[in-house]
Amino acid sequence: MRETDLTSEESRRFEVWAFGGGKGGTGKSALAASVGFQLSRLGKRVVLVDADFGGANLHTCLGVAAPARSLLDLVRAGGTVADEYAHATPYPNLRLIGGRVDEGAGGLPVGWAARLSTALRALPVDLVVLDLGAGVGPETVEVMNLADLKVMVSVPEPSSIENVVSLLRSLCLQRLVQRLPSNEVRRRLQAVQSGEAAMRVRSVGDMLREIEAVDPSLLGAARALIEEMAITLVTNQVRDDADRKFGAQTAAVVRRHFGLPMSYAGFVHHDDAVWRTLRRGKMFMVDASRSRAAEDIRRLARNLLQRADQSPVF
Ligand SMILES: Nc1ncnc2c1ncn2[C@@H]1O[C@H](COP(=O)(O)OP(=O)(O)O)[C@@H](O)[C@H]1O
Ligand SMILES: [Mg+2]
Repeated sequence: MRETDLTSEESRRFEVWAFGGGKGGTGKSALAASVGFQLSRLGKRVVLVDADFGGANLHTCLGVAAPARSLLDLVRAGGTVADEYAHATPYPNLRLIGGRVDEGAGGLPVGWAARLSTALRALPVDLVVLDLGAGVGPETVEVMNLADLKVMVSVPEPSSIENVVSLLRSLCLQRLVQRLPSNEVRRRLQAVQSGEAAMRVRSVGDMLREIEAVDPSLLGAARALIEEMAITLVTNQVRDDADRKFGAQTAAVVRRHFGLPMSYAGFVHHDDAVWRTLRRGKMFMVDASRSRAAEDIRRLARNLLQRADQSPVF
């Protein structure tokens, strides 16, 4: 099999992936753009979506101008047809729904996330890659929750992992609040989302105990909602051997201590080629295609496609 050949299973699947991680500057946009680009090179039809409301820069990672119509325009119009918002890029198989640099997500219409999901899933492509902003704002969490695969991008530093865990916590709470059929449970979980009560409920085990206290019959459904999430960790800006081990170790710790399902998909080295090419308005996958980071991205893209084999054991 040539490196560029996809297995029949890999080419058949349609999926929505989201790159997030809570912390800014870890490389979410750089990785979303380059992984999306690499998969388009492998023959997948890919749409990249800039869902960093207010801090959009995915277009610069691709070396193109900000598209005229943005994701916010689509969401505000309440549309369920995204095709006309997906602008061509200089690269075959790769289109972009851009973001707005100058405007946050305040006041989105009710039901926007469900409509966006419908719109993205109706696109005539194989893969949608969402690039998320920093923080755990409800819009960011909502977009991550609609993705089939949630890719957490972290640099090998404790503060970055703290941000990932806090995003995972918000992700689980929002999912349980939105999908469990009980107002009482909803109220209880909403109360622990922030403030003093938040200290009591850190891990998935804590969340399940809160639910059990209200309605034990919902425990099975709650567990299933958490376990069906596909979450994987990527370490970016790796510099030495300890950094290279960081991702696998961290994913294991997160599984054990927080009870969150998270696999590990690989790392990308810190490489001056990334920011140098970006500064020139180019993409390192094209202008520095033999760089270490480009090599890492090719391996990472392959791992992400095959991640089913690496799913965590509970
Ligand atoms: N692997 C890497 N090596 C070197 N610089 C990187 C790497 N990944 C990202 N960067 C640089 O870090 C900065 C932040 O990256 P970006 O993708 O915008 O982060 P985020 O989207 O998480 O805020 C950019 O200047 C980018 O060029
Ligand atoms: Mg970004």
